[in-house]
Amino acid sequence: MLKKWSAAVLGGLLVVGALSACGGESEDAGSGKKDDGKITMGFAQVGAESGWRTANTKSIQEAATAAGIDLKFSDAQQKQENQIKAIRSYIAQKVDIIAFSPVVESGWDTVLKEAKDAKIPVILTDRAVDSKDTSLYKTFIGSDFVLEGKKAGEWLVKEYQGKTDTVNIVELQGTTGSAPANDRKSGFADVIKADPKFKVIASQTGDFTRAKGKEVMEAFLKANPKIDVLYAHNDDMGLGAIEAIVAAGKKPGVDIKIITVDAVKDGMTALSEGKINYIVECSPLLGPQLMDLAKKVVAGETIPQRVLTEETTFTPEQAKAALPNRKY
Ligand code: AHR
Repeated sequence: MLKKWSAAVLGGLLVVGALSACGGESEDAGSGKKDDGKITMGFAQVGAESGWRTANTKSIQEAATAAGIDLKFSDAQQKQENQIKAIRSYIAQKVDIIAFSPVVESGWDTVLKEAKDAKIPVILTDRAVDSKDTSLYKTFIGSDFVLEGKKAGEWLVKEYQGKTDTVNIVELQGTTGSAPANDRKSGFADVIKADPKFKVIASQTGDFTRAKGKEVMEAFLKANPKIDVLYAHNDDMGLGAIEAIVAAGKKPGVDIKIITVDAVKDGMTALSEGKINYIVECSPLLGPQLMDLAKKVVAGETIPQRVLTEETTFTPEQAKAALPNRKY
């Protein structure tokens, strides 16, 4: 492969230009591998919407450096079209591997097919796509969001065991159409439906952000005089909602019980202070596993189609104990 490039260089710039313009005939140009032997990964991140996402980005960047992987990173600002653009640019740059966390589940087949046609393997991280053709990506590494929703529901069922009064629940959903919003909602609903005393009286997206969580909670509070429980699909929305609850003269964690997902430091601090009652963990530390899998894929090794993240749950006491060593 080196020989072909050398010949092109000897033949002058025009020849090199012609080679890259037609996509490259040589193995080198086709695979996008650079002469330094380093793997190049194009990573299309969702955005910077939450503490979780910031920790996830840091984990990926640090793990790439540690693994000696050349990382091209883009932030899609929670817009699918930006992620698609970034993926297309990685294909044009002939990176060795593409990884991304899809902002929403649907609408990826065309661009994934383009990557496949260009023989660039794709790894999904954190969030899944709903493509029927699973050959469009090598693996999906991340959490079981349905299970996270179930764990939230199970805590609630236990908390209100033996009580008969109606429990009015409001739900702050994540980004509309995203895997965590869809799955955390359905997992939770599946568990609480067994007992008719649980009523979800309002459910709306807060887009996984603190500002939106606050805004939507303000509206929930205005429209509903009796709210017993808030289920927020992430800590950030829960933290924004806490501000709205305090401003409405109510005590978070007491007047309104709060369950969130993630377990980032700010969430864990609020939990340890009794402002949140329960957190279901979702780990953002996917970087090292992702780099490991990327190396295997580029080396042509077989990897599992699904790599599940290990996670736990936290009560206020457990949060107090875990906080001093919490990495994110
Ligand atoms: O996809 C994971 C979710 O995305 C996290 O729970 C949330 O905080 C983030 O924005």
